[in-house]
Amino acid sequence: ESSQFCKAGIEYGDSECEFPSSSSSKILIKGGTVVNAHHQEIADVYVEDGIIVAVKPNIKVGDDVIVLDATGKFVMPGGIDPHTHLAFDFMGTQTVDDFFGGQSAALAGGTTMHIDFVIPVNGSLSAGYEAYTKKAKKSCMDYGFHMAITKWDEIVSRDMEIMVKEKGINSFKFFLAYKGDLMIKDELLLEGFKKCKSLGALAMVHAENGDAVFEGQKRMIELGITGPEGHALSRPAVLEGEATARAIRLAGFMDTPLYVVHVMSIDAMEEIAEARKKGQRVIGEPVVSGLVLDDSELWNPDFKTAAKFVMSPPIRAAGHGEALQAALSTGVLQLVGTDHCGFSSAQKALGIDDFRKIPNGVNGIEERMHLVWDTMVESGQISVTDYVRLTSTECARIFNIYPRKGAILAGSDADIIILNPNSSFEISASSHHSRSDTNVFEGRRGKGKVEVTIARGRVVWENDELKVAPGSGKYIDMPPFGYLFNGIDKEDAKYLSSLQAPVKRSI
Ligand code: URP
Ligand code: ZN
Ligand code: ZN
Ligand code: ZN
Repeated sequence: ESSQFCKAGIEYGDSECEFPSSSSSKILIKGGTVVNAHHQEIADVYVEDGIIVAVKPNIKVGDDVIVLDATGKFVMPGGIDPHTHLAFDFMGTQTVDDFFGGQSAALAGGTTMHIDFVIPVNGSLSAGYEAYTKKAKKSCMDYGFHMAITKWDEIVSRDMEIMVKEKGINSFKFFLAYKGDLMIKDELLLEGFKKCKSLGALAMVHAENGDAVFEGQKRMIELGITGPEGHALSRPAVLEGEATARAIRLAGFMDTPLYVVHVMSIDAMEEIAEARKKGQRVIGEPVVSGLVLDDSELWNPDFKTAAKFVMSPPIRAAGHGEALQAALSTGVLQLVGTDHCGFSSAQKALGIDDFRKIPNGVNGIEERMHLVWDTMVESGQISVTDYVRLTSTECARIFNIYPRKGAILAGSDADIIILNPNSSFEISASSHHSRSDTNVFEGRRGKGKVEVTIARGRVVWENDELKVAPGSGKYIDMPPFGYLFNGIDKEDAKYLSSLQAPVKRSI
């Protein structure tokens, strides 16, 4: 240690002063309720050089340690958002929030890591990876990558291996919708599942039947329905249910784990519930917009208001969100994302005459932690430990970075939030940190406020002020063969031994 004496002049090693210090990269969070996914206790948390060093009661420190009083508050792992699209080129435009802007918003809302989707460039994974590495250079918080697979050939197959073995990517998303753009056919899905299984990478699906959506869109246009309500009407929940069921059955047939992104409907959720009941390895990710909103605003006569709610799969009728909340609280669904994909009202106006041209996507990266707290914990549906699991720990486990992320434990990265359950939040485009001029959660208020965010051992959000620096965020490598693959080889062996020998036939 660089300093021999603490403030009181007591010698290092003295029980009065366990952690003497000389630089301000040291933080002590005092007296809060420290919450992990399986346990909570009143304790102090001591952080040094971006790492949690100790979690226990009554830690004594030197005089140049930043001390934060968390009495009466919850000290929890920073949120991890498993599903974002920053600086995403989509539907003829690019999302308003780039890596620095989107991450700043995230930090202001208590999220300290996100996993963004790398979209290949003309089908090329390596070109996509290069492009996203450049976009992410200005990061101010830690991030990881998923990667989409949009075509299939030998190069894609080889590149998947390179991404997993050399680039720290352990998950690939297959789009069953967006016909003519990102959509792939079942044949490619099967090739992709096979490759994912061999690499220990998690297959993810956007589950909507893209051919049927295309048909539904034509139907709406023929009926003269060109406004945002046509978006919801053209792609009903049954098409999400069908694609979810199909992806689940095909993943089961290829015997590889499956992660269903943005589960928006009861139809999709029930397919996941059924598969899990049968023992299949399926993860379901609802997003905060799907949990707390309904589709009513898509019928708002004001185009700007209606268009901001356009995302895919669509936000569903009242009742679906509540059912998804119940599924989360009972373990049918496992974690909450956002699908943060922000467009301004000027960008949404690309579809003023035709809902098919409204860029798809809504915000959520800044709002998720508050809305899940208010909707789920404050309402009594889940415990505070459940909250930590659903917003942080389970994501870290699934993507194989636990307990470096997703925990308040000695040795974990110091990504920490202090939430005051007695304070309140209010959401508005006039005060949010996204670059968008609109917010789908406009006017929402609730109890519980993230008062402090610590990212990698630095206080980046305090007193409603951001202190962030571009370039301070680090890329997090995510290794393959996470827990969803545990024991799968034994399952395979059992299957193989159950097969009969080929029947011998005489000619
Ligand atoms: O509308 C959405 N969800 N936009 C982002 C792309 C996707 O499908 O995740
Ligand atoms: Zn001391
Ligand atoms: Zn999607
Ligand atoms: Zn998405």
